[in-house]
Amino acid sequence: MSDTLLMGRRILLVIGGGIAAYKSLELIRRLKERGASVRAILTSAGEHFVTPLSVSSLTGDKVYTDLFSLTDEAEMGHIELSRDADLLVVAPATADLMAKMAHGLANDLASTALLATDKKVLVAPAMNVRMWLHPATQRNFETLLADGVDVVGPNEGDMACGEYGPGRMAEPAEILAAIESHFAELAFPGGGPLKGKRILITSGPTHEPIDPVRYLANRSSGKQGYAIAQAVARLGAETVLVSGPTNLPNPPGVTVKRVETAREMLAACEAALPADIAICAAAVADWRVASDAEQKLKKQPGEQAPALMLVENPDILATLSQLKMNRPALVIGFAAETEKVIDHAVAKRQRKGCDWIVANDVSPATGVMGGDLNTVHLISREGQEDWPLLPKQAVAERLARRIADHFSTSKAAE
Ligand code: C5P
Repeated sequence: MSDTLLMGRRILLVIGGGIAAYKSLELIRRLKERGASVRAILTSAGEHFVTPLSVSSLTGDKVYTDLFSLTDEAEMGHIELSRDADLLVVAPATADLMAKMAHGLANDLASTALLATDKKVLVAPAMNVRMWLHPATQRNFETLLADGVDVVGPNEGDMACGEYGPGRMAEPAEILAAIESHFAELAFPGGGPLKGKRILITSGPTHEPIDPVRYLANRSSGKQGYAIAQAVARLGAETVLVSGPTNLPNPPGVTVKRVETAREMLAACEAALPADIAICAAAVADWRVASDAEQKLKKQPGEQAPALMLVENPDILATLSQLKMNRPALVIGFAAETEKVIDHAVAKRQRKGCDWIVANDVSPATGVMGGDLNTVHLISREGQEDWPLLPKQAVAERLARRIADHFSTSKAAE
């Protein structure tokens, strides 16, 4: 199986005329990064918000804009355009596009392609809050749901027009997740190989308070742990993600518990037990301030800077690995190292008592911290596997499948 769910998938992206169209450019980038090919139809309203040149630079293909272009028809007719795709995505889906879809209108290339398709369609509505809440749009929305159209968003928040409410287009990461879920369901109808397994994952940094406004933290983005949560959930696992503070949206189909400190993270993990598998991807602060001040520390002229007294935080991975009762059958830790990656990881696996360690080189030159790519080594009792440089998403999917294989092999051996 390929390393990402989207490898080789063909997406037809319809970009409607809304301010959110700029986010569709980011969506194209992310789809391409994951190996999908993207063709884009830009409506004439859409052309007011993003240019055909920007879209085609990112898709690496021409942009389809005109229903009656003879050149287009000669190269690829509008029927083939939609038949040739594995999935149609409408983002932004304006009130107008949704109305056309609901009523079967076909008076431009976008609406014609959408009517001519026999493939799944995913819409990401984006419009002013009043337009979204209008009974006509809500009626059209119900019709689209009844027709089997998938929907992502809209989100609630500040709108470009200055109003507040539902109507903001889902973020590119959320649309991407919805696209991946669609292909995961196709790949595993009736549930994936991790169905029936409960998986606990920690991710992100922890924030350890110094006083009510300051804290100690680290540069972890949480991306790798979130991607793992998403990947195992897609394979059918019941997934609980205990996350430190991050800017990432909750992965679909995952129960997310948000915490701040290492002690809160441990308590949330213990509350989530029993679990079959625990994956500790969080960058837990090793130390916290011994007694955090109740009031903001004040700088006094002429006084020395305060000394911070640190005490050790609980080690969540070691605690879960060494549980007498309720120990997950498979406990996986991470080892982010800047030198002697393998040696340190092998020693860490033994010291903590976990089953596998995913080791990676995080020295600044690698760009792994906060970046999107990762080169990892999987260390177990049996030895070492070196994985190639992969997007964090692909590392997550590979790890999820590796876990599923582990359980199917150990079941077969019973
Ligand atoms: O000891 P070190 O931080 O290098 O170990 C990394 C591994 O241990 C990661 O899996 C991390 O999630 C986990 N860890 C933990 N609790 C800590 C420190 C690290 O779960 N307090």
